[in-house]
Amino acid sequence: MTGQWRALTLDYRDPAMSFEEVVRLIDLSGTATGAAYSRSDVVEALHEHQPAVVAVASGALVGAIVARVCGADAHLLMLAIHPDWRQQGIGSALLRELDQEIIHRGARRLLALVRPGQVGEIAFSNQGFTHLDGLHLYQRDASMVPEELAIVERFGGHVPGAGLWESMKGFSSAKGILDRRVVAPLAHTELADQLGLVPPAAILLFGPPGTGKTSFARAMASRLSWAFVELHPSLLGQGIEGARALRDGLAELGKVDRLVCFIDEADEIASDRSERPDSQPLVNELLKAIPVFKSRPDRLMVMATNSIAAIDQALLRPGRFDLIIPVGAPDESERADLAKEFLGAGNPGEVALRSAGFTPADFALVAQRAAQMAFDRALAGGPPEVSADDVLAAIALTRASVSPEAAQRFAAEAETYSRL
Ligand SMILES: Nc1ncnc2c1ncn2[C@@H]1O[C@H](COP(=O)(O)OP(=O)(O)OP(=O)(O)O)[C@@H](O)[C@H]1O
Ligand SMILES: [Mg+2]
Repeated sequence: MTGQWRALTLDYRDPAMSFEEVVRLIDLSGTATGAAYSRSDVVEALHEHQPAVVAVASGALVGAIVARVCGADAHLLMLAIHPDWRQQGIGSALLRELDQEIIHRGARRLLALVRPGQVGEIAFSNQGFTHLDGLHLYQRDASMVPEELAIVERFGGHVPGAGLWESMKGFSSAKGILDRRVVAPLAHTELADQLGLVPPAAILLFGPPGTGKTSFARAMASRLSWAFVELHPSLLGQGIEGARALRDGLAELGKVDRLVCFIDEADEIASDRSERPDSQPLVNELLKAIPVFKSRPDRLMVMATNSIAAIDQALLRPGRFDLIIPVGAPDESERADLAKEFLGAGNPGEVALRSAGFTPADFALVAQRAAQMAFDRALAGGPPEVSADDVLAAIALTRASVSPEAAQRFAAEAETYSRL
């Protein structure tokens, strides 16, 4: 495409300005793939009002460049040009305009890390950038030193990528509690400290299957940029042997800062000693291990269970878990929210009415089933869209994970066991 376009410095005071449009352009132009900086780096820079220049043609965004000023240097984070508007000098114009902006902000040098063939490479040479031969980009997650990383990897853990929290759909009371009571104090320890608020170090999530307990644990690690390690009760073993494996595992993980240690199926290792005598050594070990784990900051132990009633009472007493949080199936209004977020089609109110007992996992399944129906039709020449009927048919095919009896039991357990 050719036509009139102009490059102008992004005006952050303009209320019509939308970062989403820039992000859309970045995605469209494919520049983030394999680049040194990610689109979230760009979004962060935009939120901080770092220098940015956009190219506009007939009111639409066709090019954008975003930089971050660090002292006398400005690092280019992204140069994106609409695929239909390449080779018209837009890259060069964006760079020229950016020069003015960064000089104005006190920077004297522009640095760009560019993959061979990346959008804008020609613009860099046209605009007098020097190509530095033989420089290699090394990267490492700064949140962990190599020894910590080695331990985390030995346990099959990792630092989850960004965005998991944002991908948790809907709004439930558990999500709000985890956000406000767990993540926020751990993320703002100085403020918490100043006010005498002790961030939680060990929490227990309980509730029916598929309500998102595991996903929330991982999402919290993502949100905090901490490592996530899952200890599997089935791999620890039973009795004294299991207790030893648990103690050794936690001692090893005790060397890692900024860690979420997750134990799913907690009833497997923490079941009532009087009911299951073989679990006695494990429960005793946990009773000792939790305070040790909690004695150092920047760590969070998350345990999860479907059967809180089976957990040994001693573990549920104050002093062990800071919070005991019920994670239930969504209620009707939460289901309407989930319907909006999971299912493009269908009336949210009607979906909510017909999906009693559905968990987020069930909604994900409904979305897939409805998509499959639309797909089959589209293959046969139909329109490529999911209809409200597909959604209702998919709901009819899907069994609620949480039966009315299970929901009632959960409500009673929430009453008895929650500590918020
Ligand atoms: N709020 C949510 N938004 C989007 N997806 C979700 C949400 N909650 C759960 N899921 C999806 O549902 C599935 C089941 O969730 P998850 O495994 O976290 O549940 P759980 O409570 O740990 O279940 P279980 O008790 O069986 O271990 C996952 O695929 C997860 O991605
Ligand atoms: Mg789970």
